[in-house]
Amino acid sequence: MWEYSEKVLDHYRNPRNVGKIDDADIVGEAGSLACGDSLKLYIKLDGNIIKDAKFQTFGCGSAVASSSILTEMIIGKTLDEVKKITNKDIAEALGGLPQEKMHCSVMGQEALEDALKKYYKEEDGWEELEITGSSDHQDKVICTCFNVTEGQILEAVKINGLKTVEEVTNYTKAGGACGRCKGAIKNILDEYWKNETPAELTPTQKILKISKVIDQQISPQLQKDGGDIELVDVEGNTVKVKLTGMCSGCKNASMTIKNFVESVLKDKVDSKLEVEQV
Ligand code: FES
Repeated sequence: MWEYSEKVLDHYRNPRNVGKIDDADIVGEAGSLACGDSLKLYIKLDGNIIKDAKFQTFGCGSAVASSSILTEMIIGKTLDEVKKITNKDIAEALGGLPQEKMHCSVMGQEALEDALKKYYKEEDGWEELEITGSSDHQDKVICTCFNVTEGQILEAVKINGLKTVEEVTNYTKAGGACGRCKGAIKNILDEYWKNETPAELTPTQKILKISKVIDQQISPQLQKDGGDIELVDVEGNTVKVKLTGMCSGCKNASMTIKNFVESVLKDKVDSKLEVEQV
């Protein structure tokens, strides 16, 4: 069972700006019914400002919540401001999404990009448009089950720092059915990371990232068994944590939990990190 933030549940139960704008200036689309979910984003402009936005979606609760919050994020903003919005921003605005549901936030970003592309094409400004993360729009379809292109996979990899085929599936759905495309996805990942040297994090960025991974990925796992974890301090590459709840009494299990925490932090933040229980 996935854990959802209060914000996701709120936007799912009380979605904002549902419906259609009959005289919309632009309509962005992403996904397709054949692939299991789809989103139509209607935008009404006042000059360069988004005066109104509505959506229609066919999909799960996370798709509804992602679409709903996206409309709130773009109403009142200029087109220039919203072109910087990524799926990461959508997920963060929702207080996080389960990894398996991140593709819903990607669908929101893609619908917005589609709307912006259509608008700038009509306005002859397409050449100047620089949408965040969308410079590699190769059209080659890699996953035929979900109609996902190489450009879409690369964009998700780049924005979210994805390292594994499973993560790519969570964010784009590619690889999530017959699995025939998994080899091609692996090749894309290998090629991308071969050429990318991850930027060194500053100490503050490192602490923020560790804290975020603990809150969003480690803590929910421990809570399932009645435990939890607190970040106490970060000294160099040593992450000091305190186990609470059921976990605090699990002497035999503490080494297993420490190894689990350490492996997630190594994978998501920095391979040099070590965990110390205090
Ligand atoms: S081709 Fe990608 S899951 Fe089938």
